[in-house]
Amino acid sequence: MQLPETEFFSLDISQSDSPPEPKRQACLIPQTGSAKPFALDAPQCVVGREETADYFIADRRASRRHAKVLALHNRYYVQDLGSRNGTYLNGHRIENERLAHGDLIMFGGTVFRFEMGTDLDATYLKKLNLDTVTSLAEAVDKKDPYTGSHSLAVSKVAERIALALGLDQAAAERVRIAGRLHDIGKIGVPDAVLRKPAPLTEAEFALIRKHPADGASILSPLEFLIDILPGIRQHHERFDGRGYPDGVSGTAIALEARIIQVADTYHAMASNRPYRHAQPLEFIRAELIRHAGTQFDPDVIQALLDILFSVHVAN
Ligand SMILES: [Fe+2]
Repeated sequence: MQLPETEFFSLDISQSDSPPEPKRQACLIPQTGSAKPFALDAPQCVVGREETADYFIADRRASRRHAKVLALHNRYYVQDLGSRNGTYLNGHRIENERLAHGDLIMFGGTVFRFEMGTDLDATYLKKLNLDTVTSLAEAVDKKDPYTGSHSLAVSKVAERIALALGLDQAAAERVRIAGRLHDIGKIGVPDAVLRKPAPLTEAEFALIRKHPADGASILSPLEFLIDILPGIRQHHERFDGRGYPDGVSGTAIALEARIIQVADTYHAMASNRPYRHAQPLEFIRAELIRHAGTQFDPDVIQALLDILFSVHVAN
């Protein structure tokens, strides 16, 4: 049975890193009295005197239902609702106006200052950081034309294995990110070595073997990736302790790394190469089973087999 290269994507490995909408903190700050700032974190806020209003204006001159502030894609607008006394923005009566940081809005005789925070929310910042780092991962993929998009495919397979092992979404996401970045240390390996069509010398192998530790070192200044560094550093360790760079074995190897090893090997065998087609499915199964317990964590192998074949290693 031949496993087509596109098989990874028929495994229902969805792209789960769709860009989140950036959010900023915005608020209205009363300019008199001791009232607290009114946070504008809802998609639509009504400012007025009704009981249903999100913010009560203790000002007789403000009509009962005065104005609303709309938040649309991080842009804020103030809209007059036909109030008797009008809504003013920086001294000018308005019906519908976009707000900018520092604007003064007057409802009745009550003045608020609109403040737009400069801090993007943590999720968006994480996404921005990750985009920067994954662009490096893509640069690594591009260094080796034979394995373009390799790390993306590995990340998807690794995430599926993590979920099959019962890891929660947060842990599975760590595995996916580690999978995407696992070979980032290859950015320091010369192209002449990475692309060499002939067998490598021992000195050249030594350069290749530096990439897991180099990868962890490259990413170590990024605090938000600190949890995945063991997964990067240890992705060429072996379950029997004969791997590199540290020769650790068994469960002393980070689970992320044990998963990436299996996903990495699976993808390599199931992909077309210039010198061979994708390996047959039965060959892949035999190889995975043959190396379970020596090169690979047998539980991780079993999880991948469960996904791919729905069979047990013992069979
Ligand atoms: Fe690697």
